Amino acid sequence: MTISPQEFDYIRTFICEHAGIVLETGKEYLVESRLAPIAKSRGHASFASLVAGVRAGDLQLKRAVIEAMTTNETTFFRDVAPFEVLREHVIPQLMESRRATRELKIWYGASSTGQEPYSVVMMLLQHFPALADWKVTHYATDINIDVIERARAGKYNQVEMNRGLPATYLVKHFEKVGTEWQLKAAVREKVRFEQLNLVKAWPTLPTFDIIMLRNVMIYFDTEAKRQILTKLSRHLAPDGYLFLGGAETTMGIVDSFKRMQFERAGCYCKTDSPAANQLRKGAA
Ligand SMILES: C[S@@+](CC[C@H](N)C(=O)[O-])C[C@H]1O[C@@H](n2cnc3c(N)ncnc32)[C@H](O)[C@@H]1O
Repeated sequence: MTISPQEFDYIRTFICEHAGIVLETGKEYLVESRLAPIAKSRGHASFASLVAGVRAGDLQLKRAVIEAMTTNETTFFRDVAPFEVLREHVIPQLMESRRATRELKIWYGASSTGQEPYSVVMMLLQHFPALADWKVTHYATDINIDVIERARAGKYNQVEMNRGLPATYLVKHFEKVGTEWQLKAAVREKVRFEQLNLVKAWPTLPTFDIIMLRNVMIYFDTEAKRQILTKLSRHLAPDGYLFLGGAETTMGIVDSFKRMQFERAGCYCKTDSPAANQLRKGAA
């Protein structure tokens, strides 16, 4: 199946409006390969027919098209170093500053199939046993309901297990279910997964101590990034921390964040954060 320039234009405008994802000219192949299976499975013999279905407001089709155009690539402990920054600097700092309330709130704004929040939960269990009697909230969201359901189930195939998960964590926190591995309920239950579209209105959210928004803004245009980062700063505690993906930055987009660079990775604090000065002492 081949997509015409007009159909491609319609799809890219639709995806940008509903998910913020920018599809440059030249990505026709991506749209064809992602949407052809959806067209076939729903009885559309051509992209013209699929586009007509979307135009007509077929809600299930719209959802399937949006979800198919999201890239859900993720691994346990993706990029390693940001998790070291969390373990060595950010969590100890927050445990010190939150010792009176013994509460910690973390938001994962593009959690995909769950490896990112579960990596943090396992790391906290391993390295911060004192948090056992704290109230730690792990709130994980994504636009894609399909990946949210997979994340809730906490089931991973062997290839996914081989990507970044230390053997000790596998032994401790997973059990074999058929050909897959499932996270034990004790870990799964610590994370609340919900659908949230970053480019639409957000639900009422609390103030978070840490926000992980990794490897999602690379798909958005500058205006969408600006709006998201502006809203994010309202939901980040004055001394909270923001983690972005390795190819993402706040620089040149908003000036409300300051980058804290450590040996092998960085994160962001609010520009006027008291923690920024403290952290700088530990920064490389
Ligand atoms: C590449 S994955 C990143 C997963 C994880 N944060 C990581 O770094 O490994 C990007 C995720 O962003 C989600 N996403 C794309 N557009 C979104 C939007 N508008 N709102 C919320 N999530 C979105 C996708 O569904 C996908 O699961």
